[in-house]
Amino acid sequence: MSDLPERPPGPDGWPVVGSFPEYARDAFAFETRLAREYGPLTFYSSLGRGFYQVNDPELIETVLVHQNQSFGKGELFHTIVDPVGGDGLLTAEGEQWRRQRHMANPAFHPDRIAEYSQIMVEETEALLSTWDDSETVNVHEEMMEVTLDIVTRALFGMTVDDGGAIADAMDVVMERVSSPISSIVPEWAPTPGNREFFRAIDRIDAVVDAIIEHHRNGKGREDSVLAALLAAQDEEGEGMDDELVRDEVRTLLLAGHETTALALTFTLFCLAQNPAAEDRLVGELETVLEGERPTMADARSLEYTEQVVDESMRLYPPVHGILREANEDVDLGGYTVPAGATVSLNQWTVHRDERFYDDPMVFDPSRWTDKLKESLPRFAYFPFSGGPRRCVGDRFAKLEAKLVLATLYQDRHFELVSEPQLSLSPSITTRPTEPVLMRVHER
Ligand code: HEM
Repeated sequence: MSDLPERPPGPDGWPVVGSFPEYARDAFAFETRLAREYGPLTFYSSLGRGFYQVNDPELIETVLVHQNQSFGKGELFHTIVDPVGGDGLLTAEGEQWRRQRHMANPAFHPDRIAEYSQIMVEETEALLSTWDDSETVNVHEEMMEVTLDIVTRALFGMTVDDGGAIADAMDVVMERVSSPISSIVPEWAPTPGNREFFRAIDRIDAVVDAIIEHHRNGKGREDSVLAALLAAQDEEGEGMDDELVRDEVRTLLLAGHETTALALTFTLFCLAQNPAAEDRLVGELETVLEGERPTMADARSLEYTEQVVDESMRLYPPVHGILREANEDVDLGGYTVPAGATVSLNQWTVHRDERFYDDPMVFDPSRWTDKLKESLPRFAYFPFSGGPRRCVGDRFAKLEAKLVLATLYQDRHFELVSEPQLSLSPSITTRPTEPVLMRVHER
């Protein structure tokens, strides 16, 4: 047993509710204040739960990589995410997670991802064809639709007729997930919020069931991730029940489009306010693509496009924090994090830390030189997490963001109509609370 102290420095908070009022007012400002005032590891309590907020790349690496066996996703994560993810890949733990990850991996092999590039471009062209010149659109909604179409076609070989219904259902789901109250109100309580939430899940599941039915009827790709799941079900009988197959498809469907849609929305938002960066991006597209649509081979040459995506995910990480729970006492940064403690690893604060980035609040894609990448501590930039539970779709998402962006900016210029500041909600993802309106002009 270590004799290190258990409590790193942190705010006192209020009796009973702790720091909840400050968190609820502006979670991002609160977490930033903590990181700047208390350093690498800080402790606060909120609604009776203690949080160890980690703001330091080396300590984050300890949790995610070196001592990952000492941490699970934890009770808070499961309370919030299980009602959506069930026992799917994002939420499963231990041996069950290992098996599921093994089944999902082939769908995300670099060779397979290369095959998806055409789908990514075609779906973006389809989106372009729906916009009139100078029409004002909510780009968050539009990006949700195009990324949903891409992931369902790529992973499941079909498109969903009513993408808008999924987007609406996602608003309800993420609203509940973002509310700290949801970690207190049990899932079974017949509250209006819970009823609305489960209606939204039912709407999503109507799509999930259609996808599974499509595969059961032999219409899906034989080498798809769902085919692997269904085959495992056949082999093992009770090993993988219908509910688990559903959880898996729902997880891939939701995790596979919402985050990328956010990354694209934030990228459009940043570019709309940085004309020089947009000009440079468009210049690169003209030089590399010479008027043709981008292919997988071009994607490698679109270096500035990649820097734009990297920089947007630095300033606006689509996942702003990662939750874990210690399953034993762990020595971390000179303190003992006790078994059962909740740990949050903070992309938002680390990505905006001036120890790692000059002028961290400035959107500057050209900062992403090889020199910067080599000099950064490994976890000073971790939009996709790291270690064994790193995002399975990271390469898919990066390629998708680049190809969608390239296709959009070949043809269009986006003018910001909404406010030049984003109001964000700290759900499991970083979500705009208001529509992000832009006028879309033909070039
Ligand atoms: C810019 C886009 C994306 C971002 C920022 C992102 C971020 C993340 C992060 C941070 C995690 C780790 C969560 C944790 O440890 O608690 C994660 C896990 C996961 N992501 Fe992504 N993701 C993106 C796109 C995708 C795509 C395109 C897919 C699928 C097509 C996907 C599927 C998943 C799955 C299934 C997991 C759970 C993996 C596991 O635990 O084995 N994500 N993602």
